[in-house]
Amino acid sequence: MGGVQSVVSRAPRLLVADDQPDVLEAVGMLARTNGFEVRTASSPAAVIAVCEAEELDVCLLDLNYARDTTSGREGLDLLARLRELDATLPVVVMTAWGTIEGAVEAVRRGARDYVQKPWDNARLLATLSAQLELRRALRTANRLDAEAARTRRDELPAIVAKSRAMQQVMALVERVAPSSASVLITGEHGTGKEVLARTLHAASARRDRAFVAVNAGGLSDGVLESELFGHVKGAFTDARTDRIGCFELADGGTLFLDEIANMPLAQQARLLRVLQTGELHPVGSSRPRQVDVRVLAATNADVAREAAAGRLREDLLYRLNTVELHLPALRDRRDDLADLASTFLARARAGAPRRLSAGAMEALLAHRWPGNVRELEHVIERASLLATGDEIAAEDLQLRPRGDVAPQLEDMSLEQVERYLIERALAAHGGNVSEAARVLGLSRSALYRRLTSLGIRS
Ligand SMILES: Nc1ncnc2c1ncn2[C@@H]1O[C@H](COP(=O)(O)OP(=O)(O)OP(=O)(O)O)[C@@H](O)[C@H]1O
Ligand SMILES: [Mg+2]
Repeated sequence: MGGVQSVVSRAPRLLVADDQPDVLEAVGMLARTNGFEVRTASSPAAVIAVCEAEELDVCLLDLNYARDTTSGREGLDLLARLRELDATLPVVVMTAWGTIEGAVEAVRRGARDYVQKPWDNARLLATLSAQLELRRALRTANRLDAEAARTRRDELPAIVAKSRAMQQVMALVERVAPSSASVLITGEHGTGKEVLARTLHAASARRDRAFVAVNAGGLSDGVLESELFGHVKGAFTDARTDRIGCFELADGGTLFLDEIANMPLAQQARLLRVLQTGELHPVGSSRPRQVDVRVLAATNADVAREAAAGRLREDLLYRLNTVELHLPALRDRRDDLADLASTFLARARAGAPRRLSAGAMEALLAHRWPGNVRELEHVIERASLLATGDEIAAEDLQLRPRGDVAPQLEDMSLEQVERYLIERALAAHGGNVSEAARVLGLSRSALYRRLTSLGIRS
């Protein structure tokens, strides 16, 4: 995994543009020793000339040129001209330390990423190879003719995505699915992160190989380590036989790491090493094993905040989020409610109504859906059991209207109280399990167990 050589069949071609000779020399040398073929340009005119003369794979563009060293205007104009020449060429811009606004503006105008000077070699290389990988993905996707594209779509698991918000997500899915790029899927609890991961796998060249899902946040350090990397007989007291880890099970295929923000830090470090080297060590073994795995990760946490708080390694995050897909909350895509409800109704027991009454539809639209699509799925399941007429009535949904007061505790069973408090805490924290656990005074894993046993999540 990872090495720039594997990304395109010939050596990837990098154009470095800067008017400082020492920068051209240093970046040039770094890139060459890491497998790039390097072109350099020291003026905007030279950049255009190189770009017209040959096909490039990635361009590292300084924003400031001698004529106009501070505003970055000239760099931005140059970026626009490059985009006209080749809209698919990934451009990474370089800016001097402290002039981040220029970089942000450049990204807004189509640059794919930016690095600040003085740059960090490893990070610069990681940025360039991520762009190469993405470029390859886009090309593979574009090369497929209409026929192939149609078959590919037929193989996808059914996923309702009619709303504009979901259409945007699916457009990105189509673009990145064919590659081996890592994808970080974010979104509240129950928004469909796992179905989306399966969709990405099903639409990739790895579709005939394994899709292996691991809950990286729900297991203790030691258990997770042998779950992911396997162990050899005798590695610890209970290790009576060798055990293959999920990474090896997913070899050639896709590994889905769920709840990544809650992964113990020691395992984050190990995971990072595997992603960097493509090699792993089963627990108790000193012999490395090679793996070729595409990693998809998911979380309902705010990754920037988790990274800032030191709970999620930034370098790992950077490896995992080559592409980030954010699933909107169900309340932000109400246009999908009707289709989702029909999908779930179609799965209900024989003889259950297949339609919603107008009142039921109204109730669905009015509800806030703190548990998102999973909550809707459970509500419809329950309603199809309760329904007596030939359509689902609003009462069958048992949704509390908005602004309803808290139910009377005396009238509730212990389980109902528990469910009520948990759902309220989740709703108050936008579905964030860590936050909800904190206000409920539970550990995350204890809350997870309850969510599962109450059927709030599976
Ligand atoms: N767009 C969709 N179309 C059809 N079904 C969906 C869609 N999104 C989610 N679902 C269904 O909703 C349920 C929850 O989805 P999923 O398990 O993927 O959510 P999640 O984001 O991983 O949740 P959690 O954060 O709780 O792990 C699943 O049964 C899934 O099949
Ligand atoms: Mg999930």
